[in-house]
Amino acid sequence: RPRVLSGIQPTSDSFHLGNYLGALKQWVELQDDFDAFYFIPDMHAITVPYEPAHLRERTRVAVAQLLAIGVDPARATIYAQSHVPEISQLTWVLSSITGFGEASRMTQFKDKSARHGEDSAGVGLFTYPILMAADILAFEVDRVPVGEDQRQHLELTRNLAQRFNSRFGTVFRVPEPHIVAEVAKIYDLQNPGAKMSKSAESDSGLINLLDDPKRSAKKIRSAVTDNEREIRFDRAAKAGVSNLLTIQSALRGVPVDELVVHYRDKGYGDLKVETATVLTDFVTPVRDRVSELMAAPDQIDAILAEGAIRARRVAAATLADVYDKVGFLAPA
Ligand code: TYM
Repeated sequence: RPRVLSGIQPTSDSFHLGNYLGALKQWVELQDDFDAFYFIPDMHAITVPYEPAHLRERTRVAVAQLLAIGVDPARATIYAQSHVPEISQLTWVLSSITGFGEASRMTQFKDKSARHGEDSAGVGLFTYPILMAADILAFEVDRVPVGEDQRQHLELTRNLAQRFNSRFGTVFRVPEPHIVAEVAKIYDLQNPGAKMSKSAESDSGLINLLDDPKRSAKKIRSAVTDNEREIRFDRAAKAGVSNLLTIQSALRGVPVDELVVHYRDKGYGDLKVETATVLTDFVTPVRDRVSELMAAPDQIDAILAEGAIRARRVAAATLADVYDKVGFLAPA
């Protein structure tokens, strides 16, 4: 079976709606037809300021959320990045074929280092995309389901794979990004020109899956729209309305066109209230399931332990091939 792989950082107490619609929803769908590898990049999470105790907790909550939305450990291999040391080993090899200028062009590094201050940005933040390339290339991956903001990192990954293969002989499969256009970028409810992100200045436009649904419903009802009355999809002229249509459409599995017909003689208030209801119906069981799962952290740790065994088996085989190709002696 073809393989799918993706990761989500444990950098906050809850995933947000952009993470879910842009990526995680696709993870669940793809696990039926693909050999799925889904992981928590805890090593990526230490490239920005953080608390170790939070990281530990957030890694478990991240796994609990994956399970709660429907990632199935019987079908998908679920693991923590730090449990697979072969990924770090591969990162070193890849870093030696990555150009300094090439790494410097990564826009996410530029954004994040600007946010954390040029001088306090660590080298780890700079080499982050090389670690991400190793995450993927260690596993002979066909498809990587992500949101639009990861496209450039995927492009680097593909370039590194091709460069390595042509310099040392073919080892790596060149992965395809799996980016679903309609939901590739979910926007901030208060600032619908910017993507929904946990690092926005205010969280009033951010929907966290684990927040009190009443609070989220209120945020949706307060979403910024425009001064017209007409409900139609127009990303440029009607960013707020289009974002709400996208969210409701993706959560319900109803095409935007159909929603537009439904709202023909209705107002923005109807769109907001109904979108809030759809969201509440989605998050309520997810939150309940996460609290149940978090009451049994041993079970989560056991899933990660099992996943690490499976993941290491695959990554170790790739790494052995890589080490041989680059000219390292096999240990006698
Ligand atoms: P992360 O943890 O920031 O985000 C997880 C996933 O959510 C997507 N996403 C969005 N999609 C649509 N609209 C939004 N507003 C939105 N915000 C976030 C992201 O595109 C991502 O798919 N570097 C990665 C994690 C990673 C990874 C990997 C992914 C590490 N190694 C290997 C794939 C393969 C990241 O920081 O995602």
